[in-house]
Amino acid sequence: MDSFTGKLAVVTGGGSGMGRELVRQLAAQGCSVAACDINADTVAETAAMARAGAPPDVRVTGHACDVSDEAQVLRFRDELLEQHDSDHVDLVFSNAGIGGGESFIRSSREHWERTFAVDWWGVYYCARAFMPLLIASGDGVLVNTSSVNGFWAALGPGMSNTAYSTAKFAVRGFSEALIEDLRTNAPQVRVAVVMPGHVGTDIVANSLRARGLPEPERMSDAQLEELIPRDVQAKLIRAGLLAEGASADDLRQMIVRMNADFRDKAPVSAAQAAAIILDGVRSGAWRILIGKDAKTIDAAVRAKPEAAYDYAELFSEMTQAPAAGASEQ
Ligand SMILES: NC(=O)c1ccc[n+]([C@@H]2O[C@H](COP(=O)([O-])OP(=O)(O)OC[C@H]3O[C@@H](n4cnc5c(N)ncnc54)[C@H](O)[C@@H]3O)[C@@H](O)[C@H]2O)c1
Repeated sequence: MDSFTGKLAVVTGGGSGMGRELVRQLAAQGCSVAACDINADTVAETAAMARAGAPPDVRVTGHACDVSDEAQVLRFRDELLEQHDSDHVDLVFSNAGIGGGESFIRSSREHWERTFAVDWWGVYYCARAFMPLLIASGDGVLVNTSSVNGFWAALGPGMSNTAYSTAKFAVRGFSEALIEDLRTNAPQVRVAVVMPGHVGTDIVANSLRARGLPEPERMSDAQLEELIPRDVQAKLIRAGLLAEGASADDLRQMIVRMNADFRDKAPVSAAQAAAIILDGVRSGAWRILIGKDAKTIDAAVRAKPEAAYDYAELFSEMTQAPAAGASEQ
């Protein structure tokens, strides 16, 4: 597939970040798009932005859908086929995702399973719902978003990341397993897996919203305490990230700052990441790493798998052996 012009793409999680940028860039390149998000308001905004930057014959629709609920995914599929007057889709970007379910020991089971459901079952239900339509395209591409946490199940010392990593490993495993399956049983479809490093988006704030929490400024003291328990606050103080004797308002401000820093101080923007994904899909790549950090961690883990969770050794491997292509984004 060397051009997206005249195609029909599905993008999940289109209300923000990389999903929003994928929708905008695809539409600008002449591709019609059906985007969904759990937040109907943000995906409607994306659709309006994308239409404004697209040629007149391009159709962009926004749909409300929680990808972790199969009935909603099927309804989204039926809605988009009707609105786009189509019997197939050419591209599916399974991009929706949330962070969370940090600790298997301490996080609530409900929160752990919710994170896993969005990040894994969301990808699975979309593959089930859209595979027949990709086959019907005759030249279909399924693009599943995993993460660096799809090949490295950690964030660094003291930071648990269990539900997210488990789901992202599953997404990578599923996508890699589909390579041969599609080659054998549906050669008119191919699969690509996206593994971003740090990309500047609002995923921190959106993941808190997905947990049912209000904006940090409106979080109650009890919600703050549950989100950042006392002993974690003490660790943050020792690490110099929170002032000694910090008040609840200081904590609220810290969360606001964390989201802004995650978005604004990232080495790769959401727009750059979307461009890398689309270039990768056009070039026929099945493995699309985003950012120097992703390439460096990938190379280090492959070079010394046993050191993957021995951070001092892993980080020394990274400084000694820069990854091939790590100087580009
Ligand atoms: N930003 C990063 O550094 C980074 C790194 C590695 C992987 N990723 C992955 O990239 C993908 C996009 O993330 P992003 O950073 O653009 O985040 P984002 O929060 O900006 O966008 C994700 C979108 O998915 C939507 N969403 C969440 N739960 C949903 C559900 N159940 N159903 C439908 N939509 C839902 C959110 O509302 C949001 O609009 C995710 O799968 C994420 O895990 C991000």
